[in-house]
Amino acid sequence: MDDHPATIAAIIVAAGSGARFGEGGTPKQYQPLLGKSVLRWSIDAFLAAGIRNIHVVINPEHLPYFEQSVAGLKLPPPIIGGDTRQQSVLRGLETISHIAKPDYVLIHDAARPAITPDMIERICHDMIAAKAAVIPALPVVDTLRRIDADTFKTERRDSLFAVQTPQAFPFAKLLDLHRAHKNDKVTDDAALFEMVGLKIHTIDGVRGNFKITHAQDLAEMEATLSSRYADIRTGQGYDVHKFMPRGDDGRCLMVGGIEIAHDKILEGHSDADVALHAITDALLATICDGDIGMHFSPKDARWKNADSAKFLDHAASLIRNAGGIINHIDVTIICEEPKIGPHRDAIRARIAEILCLPFTRVSVKATTTEGLGFTGRREGMAAQSIVTVRLPFQQPHALAKDIKWAS
Ligand code: CTP
Ligand code: MG
Repeated sequence: MDDHPATIAAIIVAAGSGARFGEGGTPKQYQPLLGKSVLRWSIDAFLAAGIRNIHVVINPEHLPYFEQSVAGLKLPPPIIGGDTRQQSVLRGLETISHIAKPDYVLIHDAARPAITPDMIERICHDMIAAKAAVIPALPVVDTLRRIDADTFKTERRDSLFAVQTPQAFPFAKLLDLHRAHKNDKVTDDAALFEMVGLKIHTIDGVRGNFKITHAQDLAEMEATLSSRYADIRTGQGYDVHKFMPRGDDGRCLMVGGIEIAHDKILEGHSDADVALHAITDALLATICDGDIGMHFSPKDARWKNADSAKFLDHAASLIRNAGGIINHIDVTIICEEPKIGPHRDAIRARIAEILCLPFTRVSVKATTTEGLGFTGRREGMAAQSIVTVRLPFQQPHALAKDIKWAS
């Protein structure tokens, strides 16, 4: 019996340019997907499987996207990738070997966000037991037919499998093989083990763990992932802040995460952003986790003049920790002044950015109260919000409590 638990690192390759997806906009690995980026889905699955030593290989031009994707996580600095996937993997392996060589390494494509913690755990168990490479694979179920100009032939599919990532390997062996076969083109890492005749074990892959390749794959992935979140919750939130004259201390009116030029500002301990506060409360309601004041006490000096984006981001991270995803945000801002209409899309964009949601999942409305009540008398602003969140029906995946592997 080994006297130390096996050490495992994960490399997520995310340095591709996504040519088939369509270059120009947000790269495919950073596209928003049900409340977080495509890349973040994989990172969260590894974390939930108890893998802590996670290295992401990126294209340096994508750094701002990467940083936004991993906000709030303590990850090692990203590794700069190469021109091909193979080069990116090698760079990842070389970098890790200079830090601390783990016993094993999992190599995963960022473009496959639908992996599950359960699958990662199964791969790790089998790899440690066999001290060998393990890859997830699914038998091909469709009839396979070779079709080209001269051929129309049904192929036997009995022993054909579609191979996925993550693929798991003894670290030192994989690094040796990558170094030795730099010039032989391969499309996955197991191909190197295959070339030299080393044993490769397989486990059942996960249905839906396909690689996002073309732009239309994103909608299919969204459907695949959302089917895992059948517990649909709604939450509502309401907030009011009083107007006060704008002073010369630099504070300005914040509504929905953006600054709005106005001669009055809202009074409050934080930046008094009624819209973000209402949304934060609505999100907390979906996981029955109290209200904003319980999480950020108005008596706590840390939150004096705080940017309310922090509160909203915190509520979103609690939902992520509960295994949930944010489906939709609706907020109504109630005031006679300032006019919200001209700022509506900027507010939508800012809320979408904070929550890592597509713009089309954030609705912002505004209304006056026809001169009635405190908003009608221009004494303050109010906001109310309704949000929809999806949680898995089963308990969130339990974090590895007993040490199965170090990372
Ligand atoms: N990858 C990488 N470095 C490269 C090329 C690819 O790290 N030079 C990564 C991708 O980011 C992706 C995975 O390898 O997570 C699988 O590659 P693929 O799906 O082919 O992505 P792209 O190469 O980005 O897409 P395309 O081939 O359409 O350009
Ligand atoms: Mg590619």
